[in-house]
Amino acid sequence: MNDKITAPAVIARKGGAKIKMVTAYDAPTARIADRAGADIILVGDSMGNVVLGRPDTLSVTVDDMIHHTAAVATASPRAMVLGDMPWLSYHSSTDETVTTAGRLVRQGGAEAVKLEGGRKRIRMIRAILDAEIPVMSHLGLTPQSVHAMGGYRVQGKDAAVAHELISDAIALADAGVFAIVLEGVPDTVAALITRQVPVPTVGIGAGPSCDGQVLVFHDVLGLHDGHIAKFVRQYARLADVAVEALGRFFADVESGAFPSDAETYHMSAEAAQMLLDLEQAGDDWGRFRGDHLLADDVMDR
Ligand code: KIV
Repeated sequence: MNDKITAPAVIARKGGAKIKMVTAYDAPTARIADRAGADIILVGDSMGNVVLGRPDTLSVTVDDMIHHTAAVATASPRAMVLGDMPWLSYHSSTDETVTTAGRLVRQGGAEAVKLEGGRKRIRMIRAILDAEIPVMSHLGLTPQSVHAMGGYRVQGKDAAVAHELISDAIALADAGVFAIVLEGVPDTVAALITRQVPVPTVGIGAGPSCDGQVLVFHDVLGLHDGHIAKFVRQYARLADVAVEALGRFFADVESGAFPSDAETYHMSAEAAQMLLDLEQAGDDWGRFRGDHLLADDVMDR
């Protein structure tokens, strides 16, 4: 149970025990995901939506991804730390692509990277694999293509597009990716791809036939009030729990019930009495000598 999950370990799960994957974007959420038994923690560019509050993932930068991937890696999870490559970081040249993937590994602590797209990304995927970095692919509803797709739409509903997706998946597996995320595709297409490729598929809105499933942390746990897609199952409403708990904290602040004596630091009775006696005697606390300014003065320097 404590063995670190690696790319070969993920491949070995093909057709076997289902792969459990969830996103996380910082150390505490990574620790929670790991304790719950995640096999793969994806530092997804969905961070742009769920953490940074943006309307899509397109504005997420490589530096954003490194910052959050490093926070997740700090948690040293048993799960594989998978860093998402943001839009435009693997589209123009193989040099830039390998540099970006390398930064996610070296500076972010990622153990593998994920990128969106099919056959047209294979040149970049091969370059990353040549640098010894495992790659997971992402097909179907690829959020970085939101404008090209004309919105967040299920892909592969018609047989011709589905055929292209299946050919893409086969080509990606041939190129050497260790797994493929299938997002927003009909169950029949996901089942077909899962049967046709020798590497695991991980579904999100792709039905039950995939070799694993992935969801966004904040969706599964109900940590936001935004739109919830049809394929999300919410296992908790943590936003409601948090609002209720903070409400009780604020009520205690208002009433004076917080902090209690047990939640307060104390000094010795003698030291306290000495200060109270000085106050009683009208001590100027260094006001006229300017001593009370010293602390600020020291801090400024
Ligand atoms: O960024 C992300 O969270 C993802 C998952 C939805 C697979 O790519």
